[in-house]
Amino acid sequence: MDKRPIGVFDSGLGGLTAVRELRRILPGEDIVYFGDTGRVPYGTRGSAIIRQYARQDIAFLLGQGVKLILAACGTVSSTYPPEDAAGLPVPYLGVVEPTARAAAAASRSGRVGVIGTAATVRSGSYERALHGLWPEAQTIARACPLFVPLVENGRIAPDDPVSALVAEEYLEPVRGAGVDTLILGCTHYPLLAGVIGRAMGPEVALIDSGREAALAVQRRLAADGLLNGGGGGARYYVTDSTDQFAAMAALCLDEGAHGPVEHVPIEQIAALPG
Ligand code: DGL
Repeated sequence: MDKRPIGVFDSGLGGLTAVRELRRILPGEDIVYFGDTGRVPYGTRGSAIIRQYARQDIAFLLGQGVKLILAACGTVSSTYPPEDAAGLPVPYLGVVEPTARAAAAASRSGRVGVIGTAATVRSGSYERALHGLWPEAQTIARACPLFVPLVENGRIAPDDPVSALVAEEYLEPVRGAGVDTLILGCTHYPLLAGVIGRAMGPEVALIDSGREAALAVQRRLAADGLLNGGGGGARYYVTDSTDQFAAMAALCLDEGAHGPVEHVPIEQIAALPG
């Protein structure tokens, strides 16, 4: 039993897909969420900047006394060096490995699509993880850079015409490759699952990276004897407007933010040494 909170971070709102699931499967845990809404998106940036941002985000969460850190961001998970993660004082999990594992379990044909940010697709992280589990798997990966701003602007209704048009264009080659499973490799994308599902068709299984990461947290806390049954609160920290975040969180989390939302002046947070 460990009463310290779980630390979750993302460049913006996407990590709320992991929080949504964590609150469902681990209702007794306290959560500290950090969304770097002032610097979103990360996925269009170069690796050195993404690593630098991640070192600041992690430093902030460590300062909150968390017992585990979840990088609920496909971009950070694909870019933050494993050797840095291994040196952290608390367990660190990313979204790539658990999501690839779920995709390998879901696919029958071995034809798996991956969609993510430009940085994630450039890294080849999901394909590597999937091929480690299933060497014969055939993958097709596609960057969908407009999905993140669409989510951050609340265009998440399954029949949103702008999102539907963008999804149709991005996903046409993925559908054409005959995949039976699609990895939503950016944690923002599950918020567009309705739109993406319509574009892909009902026979394609969508793998939610936020959900799979939350399940990985549950397994890790249980294995390390760190579960807490007596909490259930959440605190949210963002680097841009708190009002805007609270309004969006109400759309992304079934019960809304359900906890205070505070502003963090990110320039005052010293990054961990790299
Ligand atoms: N939610 C993020 C991810 O999973 C980041 C999107 C972005 O900042 O570009 O990749």
